[in-house]
Amino acid sequence: MTVYLNGEYMPIGEARVPVLDRGFLLGDGVYEVIPVYGRHAFRLEQHLLRLQNSCDGIRLDNPHNAAAWTTLIQDFIGRQDFANQNLYLQLTRGVAKRDHAFPQGATPTIFMMANPLVTPTPEQFEAGVAAVSTTDNRWQRCDIKSIALLANVLLRQIAVDAGATESILFRDGYMTEGAASNIFAVKGGTILAPLRNHLMLPGITYDTVIELARANNVPLEVREISEAEVRAADELWLTSSTKEILPITRLDGRVVGSGTAGPVARRMLALYQGLKRTG
Ligand code: PDD
Repeated sequence: MTVYLNGEYMPIGEARVPVLDRGFLLGDGVYEVIPVYGRHAFRLEQHLLRLQNSCDGIRLDNPHNAAAWTTLIQDFIGRQDFANQNLYLQLTRGVAKRDHAFPQGATPTIFMMANPLVTPTPEQFEAGVAAVSTTDNRWQRCDIKSIALLANVLLRQIAVDAGATESILFRDGYMTEGAASNIFAVKGGTILAPLRNHLMLPGITYDTVIELARANNVPLEVREISEAEVRAADELWLTSSTKEILPITRLDGRVVGSGTAGPVARRMLALYQGLKRTG
């Protein structure tokens, strides 16, 4: 696998980062995961905008503008020998003597790798996955796509330990998102989406689903969603760049709705698949 590190391409086994990198010592960095279909980076402009917002959020000078990132990313995509890619991009505040305060004059570390993109099969979509509910104990800037993911790691492991796929997070009685995904509910044919604020990551897939619902007149409410509403939902889905739209068919061991993918999930996935082909 060919990776990109600070201006150079190399096999992954040869990529080295100094131990003083602030990403390693402090988790001081941001990242993106971009799905690539047939060598086309899906919603690249939106991913680059979110990367800029993450940089602004941690007061890191973005080393490239959107045009330069686009050239770099397209070149990188072309070097892989598989067409559907899960492109991971990471920026850290660079290498410096360990100190919490920002270093003077450090150069950001830029890293990219691509793995084959594995999205849910039609069978996995139909069956859906299990989720557990848990308390969202993260910080107040969940809108930053930070590489400091310890809270998310621990929250997701709660699901895995329970034999489930994802943890649905609740803060003060309201649903925020999943440990590594956004969450939607459906009630009486209406899609319920949580508010896009500092308590969740503004998922590119989340934005895409909302855009598709509006464009196709699918009933949609973007508002606070209570724990009771989540438990009474006809459908629950998780969304992310790699899982796309994936039904949650069990929550805390109880069946959600019909126990398989629901009609609104099916409709939205079909619309999403259409968009993948056209960009
Ligand atoms: N995770 N919320 C969290 C906490 C996430 O980590 C992710 C994605 C999302 C969905 O965002 P998007 O639709 O842009 O993928 C929401 C990625 C895939 C990851 O960390 O691997």
